[in-house]
Amino acid sequence: MLLSWQASIPWLLAACIGVQAVTAPEGVRQIPLRSHSLSAEPPQPYLDSDMQSRYFEFGEDTIVRADQYIRLTSDMQGQSGWLFSRMPITATNWMIEIEFKIHGRGHLHGDGMAIWVTEERGKPGKVFGHTDNFNGLGIFLDTYKNSRPGVTFPYVMAMLGNSSVSYDKDHDGKDNELAGCSARGIRTGGTIPTKIRLTYYAESSLRVDLQYKGPDEWTECFETEAIKLPQTAYLGFSAETGELSDNHDIINVAAHNLHVRQNQGSSRSSKDQGGKARTKPYNPGGTKERGSWRWFFLKIVLFGIVVVGGYVGYTMYRTSKRSSRF
Ligand SMILES: *[C@@H]1O[C@H](CO)[C@@H](O)[C@H](O)[C@H]1NC(C)=O
Repeated sequence: MLLSWQASIPWLLAACIGVQAVTAPEGVRQIPLRSHSLSAEPPQPYLDSDMQSRYFEFGEDTIVRADQYIRLTSDMQGQSGWLFSRMPITATNWMIEIEFKIHGRGHLHGDGMAIWVTEERGKPGKVFGHTDNFNGLGIFLDTYKNSRPGVTFPYVMAMLGNSSVSYDKDHDGKDNELAGCSARGIRTGGTIPTKIRLTYYAESSLRVDLQYKGPDEWTECFETEAIKLPQTAYLGFSAETGELSDNHDIINVAAHNLHVRQNQGSSRSSKDQGGKARTKPYNPGGTKERGSWRWFFLKIVLFGIVVVGGYVGYTMYRTSKRSSRF
């Protein structure tokens, strides 16, 4: 009885907080990063009562429709907008899942949007609405082909910037490409929510997956070798329209710290300790979250004690009343 009660606690808590089940490899624990997540609904609304976002900042043509989307550009010519986290990502390994929607009227559309993990934040520029010569990672969802023969668009590609290299705009980033893939369905989406998922392990890889073929049907776009990101890197989004246009909407952002557990039951060799040090996340934000989690748990336990105590007290009271009656 006690065992099953204990076993049900995590589920109960998960149900209370609305934790979503996300697939993670064995031995990897996911800790939600509220400071880098966004959703239209509580507990993480786009805007709080001050019409501001606690964790994100936006600018240029970006508009917020509080219950539906954050629109980086509207379906109009010559727009540019950005949305950036206020705090840098401090997790060593992380996973960020973004639901977006790129849509518009007419036959020709452009130019596309970018997801950033860069030292720069909120600096408008000519790379999908954000600054060139950036330091860090740019993932481009390029919906308009300027000049890349033999490549089907929309095209998704990653570029690693080092502050001095410029984006090769004339050839849709061909010179800068770290990895990429064609993704025909990411623009329309239809009834299928379009999503992109970035999974980053500092010591081993960056992987990008896309969802556009069906709900919960993920397609791997690419996986790279280990890449080095700047010490201080913000999560951002930007988009741009030129002669061609589209709405570029961010619907939802779910970020997680990936905490890689050390091998259980393994001997404490120096090698293992090295492994532990490598994968140990530095995450002050997460510590706070774990604190609030503990507080939440404590509140549930206290509530339980009060209920049980109350019941026991009431029973005793009734018993004593009954016995005193006779
Ligand atoms: C930046 O990257 C480019 C292209 O890979 C390279 O030519 C250049 O030397 C790098 N600059 C610095 C400062 O590392």
